[in-house]
Formats: sequence, structure tokens, C-alpha cells
Amino acid sequence: MVQLTLPANSKVRKDGKTYPAKAGADGSFRRFNVYRYDPDAGENPRIDSYEVDVSDVSMVLDALIKIKNETDPTLTFRRSCREGVCGSCAMNINGANTLACTKGMDDLGDGDVAVYPLPHQPVVKDLVTDLTKFYEQHASINPFLQSSVADDAAEIPQSKEEREKLDGLYECILCACCSTSCPSYWWNGDKDNGEEYLGPAALLQAYRWIADSRDEEREKRLDALEDPFKLYRCHTIMNCAQVCPKSLNPAKAIAEIRKLMITRPRKAG
Ligand code: SF4
Ligand code: SF4
Ligand code: FES
Repeated sequence: MVQLTLPANSKVRKDGKTYPAKAGADGSFRRFNVYRYDPDAGENPRIDSYEVDVSDVSMVLDALIKIKNETDPTLTFRRSCREGVCGSCAMNINGANTLACTKGMDDLGDGDVAVYPLPHQPVVKDLVTDLTKFYEQHASINPFLQSSVADDAAEIPQSKEEREKLDGLYECILCACCSTSCPSYWWNGDKDNGEEYLGPAALLQAYRWIADSRDEEREKRLDALEDPFKLYRCHTIMNCAQVCPKSLNPAKAIAEIRKLMITRPRKAG
């Protein structure tokens, strides 16, 4: 049985399974305490504990793949590129949202490794969360170039300075680490009553198109965000910038949108 310290009122089951290292095995072992949950099973989540030989493991994702391949094929998680490009392997490792494929074992310090799904999202299974709402919010900001240039093949030139305005924005891989670490998004991100905060990822993407000199719908984009909830539920707590695995700063993008709201000409009436 896993010996974990859980709060007395925790709904997490205390009977998680333990997978010890094989007796007499050589290697350098590390214990991974991993969140397990199958909503269809009708039981509360539990924490399973795996002792893994990490002597040939560089990244946390490698350890999870090793667990799945060698110990417990039922462990469920997403991954694809294994190089920090697709965003699929976003999860909460030792209390911080990050990408498992770029989180080095060397960065973890000593002791057990706690692996949980992204916080405050519905869990599909184990470390896989349902990001439907997150993607809907991204779609809501029209994440594509809107231009009257009808010919798809036509080039729309940008100066070097105009292009540079997109640096720190276009690199976003939509991993959701930022939004799911934002307390305001936890409380206001999933409201269907018109009081929904779009969260740092969707707003960084919104600014990516607002800042694009080739886009012709900047005013409409700003109009769509001029709302007490979509934009103004950011309280500058800055968790988003701290966790972004691509070192982006969504809070700064949000501040830029707010600045434009204040400085743009007011409409009559
Ligand atoms: S801003 Fe960073 S943390 Fe947020 S979705 Fe984009 S890449 Fe992920
Ligand atoms: S700065 Fe804004 S978006 Fe970022 S974590 Fe804080 S409240 Fe959320
Ligand atoms: S597997 Fe693609 S970002 Fe980690």
C-alpha cells in the first residue's frame, strides 16, 4: 500500500497500488507517485506508486513510458512529439504544470516524483484531461489571419519591426499549462452564463493576431474582448508566465490588450 500523506478530508483513495523494484535489481531507483482515475469505474481517484530504474531515463516522459512498457500498461497519458512541440504531454509534475517530455530528471531535486493531470480540468483517464473547453476558447478568438487580400498566393509584406512584434507570441504550442495554473481561470474559465474568463492561452493567442500588421480586423477583435469577464478577470497573479514551458509571458500579452483598450479611440454612443 502507498504510504502517502493526504489531508484527512481528501477524496483520494488511500489504497493505491505499489509497484516495487524487482528484488536484487541494480540501478538508480526513483519513486513516482502517479494519479490514477477512471471516471467510468465509479470509484474515487487513487495514487499508484512505481519504483523506476532511472539510470537510463533523462526526462519524466521517458519514465512514464518505461512504466507503461515494463510495469503497468494501463497507465494512460498523452504524448506525441517528445520534443516540446506538440503540447500533448502537459501535466503537473511536483506541483507545477509543465511538459513531461522536456522536464529533465535532473530538474526534480531529490525525493519522490508526484505526477498529476493538469489541474481543474475534467479527467478523461489518469493523466489525460478533457481540453474541449480550452480549445473552444481558442477557437472563439478567430485564430487565423483575416485579410481582404483575396488571392491566397499573394504575399502580404511585413517590415522587420512588424514581424518582431510577433516574437514571444507565435511560439505558443497550446499546451494549456498556463491557463490551468491560473487561479482566475480555475474559478471563471468554465462558466456558460456569459461570465467566462478566456484564460491566458486564448488571450495570448488573441494578442498574437491583434499585433499582426497583416490582419485587418484588429478593432473587431478588440470589440469582442471588451467585456468584463473574457479579458478583465486576469488579476496579474503571474502563474501563467512562471509555468510556460516555452518561456512566453501571457500576462504581458493580456496587459498589452488592456493598454490598447484604453488608448484606442472611443466609439460614439
Ligand atoms: S502560452 Fe505557454 S503555457 Fe500557455 S499554452 Fe502557450 S505554450 Fe502553453
Ligand atoms: S497573470 Fe492573469 S492570466 Fe496569468 S495567471 Fe495571473 S490571473 Fe491568470
Ligand atoms: S510530447 Fe509533444 S510536447 Fe511533450
